[in-house]
Amino acid sequence: MNNFDFYNPTHIVFGKDRLQELDKLIPSDAKVLLLFGGGSVKKYGTYDKVIKALGEREVVDFGGIEPNPQYDTLMKAVEVVKTQDITFLLAVGGGSVMDGTKFISLAANFDGTPSDLLVGKAKTSEVKVATPLGTVCTLPATGSEMNAGGVISFEGGKYGMGSPLVYPKFSFLDPTLTYSLPKVQVANGVVDAFVHTLEQYSTFPADAKFQDRTAEGILQSLIEIGKTTLDNPTDYDARANLVWCATNALNGLIGAGVPNDWATHMLGHELTAMFGIDHAQTLAIVQPALWTVRKEKKKAKLLQYSQRVWGITEGSDDEIVDAGIAKTREFFESLGLKTRMSEYGITEDKIDDLVKALGNHGMTALSETRDLDLDVSRAIFQEAM
Ligand code: NZQ
Ligand code: ZN
Repeated sequence: MNNFDFYNPTHIVFGKDRLQELDKLIPSDAKVLLLFGGGSVKKYGTYDKVIKALGEREVVDFGGIEPNPQYDTLMKAVEVVKTQDITFLLAVGGGSVMDGTKFISLAANFDGTPSDLLVGKAKTSEVKVATPLGTVCTLPATGSEMNAGGVISFEGGKYGMGSPLVYPKFSFLDPTLTYSLPKVQVANGVVDAFVHTLEQYSTFPADAKFQDRTAEGILQSLIEIGKTTLDNPTDYDARANLVWCATNALNGLIGAGVPNDWATHMLGHELTAMFGIDHAQTLAIVQPALWTVRKEKKKAKLLQYSQRVWGITEGSDDEIVDAGIAKTREFFESLGLKTRMSEYGITEDKIDDLVKALGNHGMTALSETRDLDLDVSRAIFQEAM
């Protein structure tokens, strides 16, 4: 096991009908900026519940944060924070709203050019104070509710950013607030959480038994409840399990002390940026193809995965690994997600553009072994056709 630091200060408030407890967690004299997306929180009543819980506090609204949050939109919120002396940010929404709020929290306290906070330029360490934030998570998927990272869309690309200053002070995880999600967003959530787990698991062995067994537990739980929570959105226990799996898939616990990959995410981000495909749907395309191309490098863990998660024991090692990859593809498809670029109408001639975009974004040495270069990325996109 590798050396690691593990730090996670986010207070989780889990369970139904607890939003009134916001009152205890936000300072009574706070001036709150309430951030949300395109309107689902108003439509399904979450907004009203939050406003009620905030009581006498002064609240300013900032709606309209789009999926794959756009830098220009977020900069408008930064202006509000600065000009209206906002002291607390409350994100009510999915990963896009939570990520956007993290960026706003940093950018409002940064003297330089705010786009320099995005990874690649990495000036986040220059920010010494951030506006405190909390979340009410309405979409179980990204883990943003309990991590210190975010992904921001800027000038046609998707950029990661993060700082320990933007761990949410608290996150409300009420499974009932997610009942209103369209089916496709539930499927997206299952697959995003599944692939987050895989990015920290399907690498090479580090003899990290706790991390491995915990990751396998998350994967098996998602397989067990994935279809159930899709077909029965108001089955509380199934949804509660999805919510807690998604949070734990990316709160730092299973990735500590082990190699991490994240190449599936980086290739997926280019598919979102270029074709507007939802984040998790890009992962469903890239993950099986990446494994097929990188099978030899990942063999030991793919064998362990196929045996322990899917219970495949018959056949040679190669056959077991292939069967595990096939099972994974079937699982994504059973949730209604496509796993091929061609199914989205993307033609082979677009692969050059995708590879070029990866190069422009500095994604030339990816994976747990840093040898996934542009040629390998090209092979993965080809395999994903
Ligand atoms: O905008 P509204 O009207 O709220 O509708 C949203 C949006 O259209 C809707 N929605 C959310 N909660 C709902 C609901 N509809 C009905 N009922 C509810 N309870 O769902 C749509 C998608 O929302 P979005 O926040 O974009 O989805 P998700 O949570 O999947 O977040 C995706 C973003 O997170 C980033 C992705 O790159 C993408 O930008 N990621 C963030 C990560 C992190 N912070 O650690 C890691 C992930 O790998 C991911 O990259
Ligand atoms: Zn993801």
